[in-house]
Amino acid sequence: MAKNNISISASITSTKYFDIKNTIDVINKSLVDRIHFDVMDGVFVPNITYGPDFISSIRNFSKKFFDVHLMLYNPYPYIENFVNAGADLISVHVEAKNTFKSIKLIKSLGKKAGVVINPDTNVKKVLPYLDFVDEVLVMSVNPGFGGQKFIPKVIDKIQKLIDSIKKYNHKILIQVDGGINFDNAKILIDMGVDSLVVGSFLFNQTNFNQAVLTFKNL
Ligand code: DX5
Ligand code: ZN
Repeated sequence: MAKNNISISASITSTKYFDIKNTIDVINKSLVDRIHFDVMDGVFVPNITYGPDFISSIRNFSKKFFDVHLMLYNPYPYIENFVNAGADLISVHVEAKNTFKSIKLIKSLGKKAGVVINPDTNVKKVLPYLDFVDEVLVMSVNPGFGGQKFIPKVIDKIQKLIDSIKKYNHKILIQVDGGINFDNAKILIDMGVDSLVVGSFLFNQTNFNQAVLTFKNL
């Protein structure tokens, strides 16, 4: 059994199910804790996905926790739209513009805020945000696409982050995103990571809920 109660955030951009309604039904019936939305602007990352209207159209169909990952060069002007769309947690990159301003706005609108760090960014860059965020999202692939391979060097960074967070008496969750499968999940769970974003690996399983259960029992 897992030492901690790992949370699973299904990255719906990687769905292989016939349509989005079908995908949401599968997720709703499963033990998945969160739905992970990858918002990409074609500037901060070399890919484009969707905006707040898409998230808002799904909000009435699921009671799951909405985990919104903004891969936007300048997220600040759009924060309110994502809050109104029904986001429970909004995460913005340390490498983007107006990160502090965006986090303060997210918190002032009553939502959880996360800070995201890319694989090549030094862990020191997130430390100034720890007093202000609920979560740190550690990228284990370069953002932009699902289905990439987990980059093992991030494990070192996660350990440093766990050590730094221990110095704080308030709880900051750590979520890891990119290339997650049963093997690397086991390592991350044992380290004390709180939540895992799983995309293609999960949606490629024949039994979706059984796979979620396997993650939770690693
Ligand atoms: C990458 C995204 C990830 C990705 C996860 O830009 O932030 O959330 O969709 O998908 P997998 O699990 O396929 O790497
Ligand atoms: Zn993501």
